[in-house]
Amino acid sequence: MKMGFYFYIVCCFLIFFSKASTTIDTISRSESLTDGKTLVSNGGSFALGFFSPDTSNSNNRYLGIWYHNDPNQTVVWVANRINPINGSTGVLKIESSGKIVLQVQNTTAVWSTNSTVSVEDPVLQLLDSGNLVLRDGNDINPENHLWQSFDYPSDTMLPGMKIGVDLRTSFDRRLSAWKNWDDPSPGDLTYGVELEGSPEMVLMKGLEKYYLTGLWIGSGFSGVRDVRSNPIFDYDFVWNETEIYFTFSLKSKSLMSRVVLNQTESVRKRYTWNPESQTWELFSMRPSDYCDRYGLCGPNGNCDYNKLPVCQCLTGFRPKWPKRWNTSEYSGGCIHIKPLNCQTGDEFITIRRVKSPAITNPWVHKTMNLKECKAECSRNCSCMAYSNLDVTGGDGSGCAMWFGDLVDIKQFQSDSDGMDLYIRVSASETELKKKAKVKLAIILAPVIAALLGLLLVVCYIRGTRRKLEDEVEDKNLEDKENKDENEDMELAVFEFDTIIQATDTFSFRNKLGEGGFGPVYKGTLANGQEIAVKRLSKSSGQGLNEFKNEVKLIAKLQHRNLVRLLGCCIHGEERMLVYEYMPNGSLDSFIFDQTRREELTWYFGMARTFGGDQTEANTNKIVGTYGYMAPEYAIDGLFSVKSDVFSFGIVLLEVISGRKNRGFYHANQSGNLIEHIWRLWTEGKPSDAAYEFLAETGDVPELLRSIHISLLCVQQHPEERPSMSSVVLMLGSHNELPSPKQPGFLFYNKPFEAYPSPDNNESSSRNEISLSTFEAR
Ligand SMILES: *[C@@H]1O[C@H](CO)[C@@H](O)[C@H](O)[C@H]1NC(C)=O
Ligand SMILES: *[C@@H]1O[C@H](CO)[C@@H](O)[C@H](O)[C@H]1NC(C)=O
Ligand SMILES: *[C@@H]1O[C@H](CO)[C@@H](O)[C@H](O)[C@H]1NC(C)=O
Ligand SMILES: *[C@@H]1O[C@H](CO)[C@@H](O)[C@H](O)[C@H]1NC(C)=O
Ligand SMILES: *[C@@H]1O[C@H](CO)[C@@H](O)[C@H](O)[C@H]1NC(C)=O
Ligand SMILES: *[C@@H]1O[C@H](CO)[C@@H](O)[C@H](O)[C@H]1NC(C)=O
Ligand SMILES: *[C@@H]1O[C@H](CO)[C@@H](O)[C@H](O)[C@H]1NC(C)=O
Ligand SMILES: *[C@@H]1O[C@H](CO)[C@@H](O)[C@H](O)[C@H]1NC(C)=O
Repeated sequence: MKMGFYFYIVCCFLIFFSKASTTIDTISRSESLTDGKTLVSNGGSFALGFFSPDTSNSNNRYLGIWYHNDPNQTVVWVANRINPINGSTGVLKIESSGKIVLQVQNTTAVWSTNSTVSVEDPVLQLLDSGNLVLRDGNDINPENHLWQSFDYPSDTMLPGMKIGVDLRTSFDRRLSAWKNWDDPSPGDLTYGVELEGSPEMVLMKGLEKYYLTGLWIGSGFSGVRDVRSNPIFDYDFVWNETEIYFTFSLKSKSLMSRVVLNQTESVRKRYTWNPESQTWELFSMRPSDYCDRYGLCGPNGNCDYNKLPVCQCLTGFRPKWPKRWNTSEYSGGCIHIKPLNCQTGDEFITIRRVKSPAITNPWVHKTMNLKECKAECSRNCSCMAYSNLDVTGGDGSGCAMWFGDLVDIKQFQSDSDGMDLYIRVSASETELKKKAKVKLAIILAPVIAALLGLLLVVCYIRGTRRKLEDEVEDKNLEDKENKDENEDMELAVFEFDTIIQATDTFSFRNKLGEGGFGPVYKGTLANGQEIAVKRLSKSSGQGLNEFKNEVKLIAKLQHRNLVRLLGCCIHGEERMLVYEYMPNGSLDSFIFDQTRREELTWYFGMARTFGGDQTEANTNKIVGTYGYMAPEYAIDGLFSVKSDVFSFGIVLLEVISGRKNRGFYHANQSGNLIEHIWRLWTEGKPSDAAYEFLAETGDVPELLRSIHISLLCVQQHPEERPSMSSVVLMLGSHNELPSPKQPGFLFYNKPFEAYPSPDNNESSSRNEISLSTFEAR
């Protein structure tokens, strides 16, 4: 009996095993593959067989390759894209000529390969990479492929595929989107390398360039944010005498990632497989934002997502058609303000951190250095710009030159993105640049005023309510700021050695984070004082005096609720800012964090850290950030003192609700934070606006009063908002307050999120937009 049982088990096992081993990955000449049968690659990753994109509605059958383990059988390759088979009558065979033929029973071929090498023992094999290959069974080298599906990609790029051109044969491998979700025939959206273009990838819509990645600059494409640190895939761009192609590989065999084009959305998307949820997750999308659209700002325009309007003329240029430019019609682009004069001498100015302009018929030189590149460009009067071709390895190498208009430039913020471009301008342009600096200082004044407003609330919330003494002091500070711009401040200048010792030579362990303008390190001075050192990028191109002036400007913003700037350090090209160290980071890292915020009560013991920017570049961008901008400013560009009051109102609402105005989501309501709070207000339950913990632990009448005041601050019309000094009075007293009218709801997201902005792993980061910052660059 027992023996019998074991026998039964063993039999079952054998049957199971023999069944499992019947999955095959090859067919030879005498065999064929009919509809209903599949080949499964050796490792079980991919399957080849017949499928219908839309099983319910049509008889159309296609031969394709799909992920074997994906329950949705995501198709990655289709043979007969334009010739579907009507019904399940398709047969795949290998002919003696070495051709792979897909036919309808014994009749017409709907698809075949062009290979004409006749071999005695042809073998068709589905590899575990998803590549379907034809090889000679007698060839001992399994890498010798007579034909491979990777050379004829459909809409999907798999690891190991090369998308690009073989220069010897002009053989072009490019992706082309499915026409529709139920029609695999090629749409007009394609992705590949343009032969008459520069070394970069191009998304084409028909014959039009739609999105360019920007030049390959060694570490990546100049128009794409660096994602090399991702845990899933690596990528490379090969560009030599024989080939130009893009390829990617997985960091581990167990991972899955694919790039796919979508005709309907006109995008190239990258998905990665999430084994836990068993779903594909969107990793990145191109174009990823408004500025990615090819040539959006016209010739010599620079698309800057953080500016209003997004299209700016390059330095030294002005709109060709100013009226149209003012109505967001940018196609005319920009022209030189001062005509060039090659003979008497033009100059080159640096445009930092941009995506390279598009080049057709590029002039590129791989070994020239930047100096030689400049000399070469200066010599030729039609050379409008130059740059390094490879920015990796310290000084960079190679030379690219642009002739004619500069098109498709996009501005990046972070030092790790984009490249530096040197553009030709009239020698007199440098004068203009200096004026622009002065202008910046004028723009900064309201920013500072608003920041001072911001810290008033913090004072209030702390419960110290030292009444107006402090505020008067602040006011004085503000006035002082506005009046004596030129008065010298005492500011420590630290020795470079001191900084080196304090930060242990910028040791990785001491790195606190990376802001928009460079990494920040923690350090300890010899006297035990802890500091935070912001290391600005080396090649900021900023003059010494400009830097010092900006530092002085920041230094004037001293208040106990703002992180204190202790001084600066200048060493060769390096510029560093030294701040006092804030062990707990910035307030926003508390109030927008579900758990951390409970560490703070209404009395906000930690409030002094608000405004600290040692770990976040964004905290000091509050005022120019869309979520905080007053409607008249965001829409019409009109700015007044009352615009700051609006921003202040938003900050106060955010502090109370623990939610961001921008990126506000509520389960069953649309709209933004103001709208949400206004709704609660009109429904007579304003205290629901405060996040639970705060409502429980706080002083409810004070909370309600703060909400009331915030609503007054965010009124649509500037004249209906109180002045900042009235706000101070209101916060500090119990006088009756006027009733708020409906505030200015602003749907900040709309015009700018026609393209979802999250790209890659930045999706979790902030996507606020800053207009102007007071930070030294
Ligand atoms: C497909 O075959 C079915 C039945 O064989 C036939 O009724 C139908 O007309 C065919 N469709 C096309 C598009 O040829
Ligand atoms: C296809 O051809 C083979 C051999 O010539 C024959 O045995 C088979 O019946 C044919 N099938 C059809 C559907 O005509
Ligand atoms: C075979 O060659 C023709 C003409 O060169 C081409 O249009 C077709 O795409 C090729 N077929 C395959 C499967 O490569
Ligand atoms: C393209 O995207 C749309 C919208 O997300 C989707 O419905 C469609 O299935 C996609 N098309 C393809 C071919 O994947
Ligand atoms: C071009 O690069 C590819 C990939 O690295 C390499 O196989 C090929 O030999 C290179 N060709 C030349 C001429 O260097
Ligand atoms: C399969 O398709 C369904 C419905 O479209 C979708 O919800 C699910 O996420 C898909 N699964 C995978 C693995 O893509
Ligand atoms: C465009 O707008 C700017 C700023 O509002 C203004 O100074 C300029 O005069 C306008 N130009 C035209 C032609 O309307
Ligand atoms: C400048 O460069 C362009 C493009 O390479 C070339 O056609 C032209 O002849 C050059 N002009 C001079 C004066 O060298």
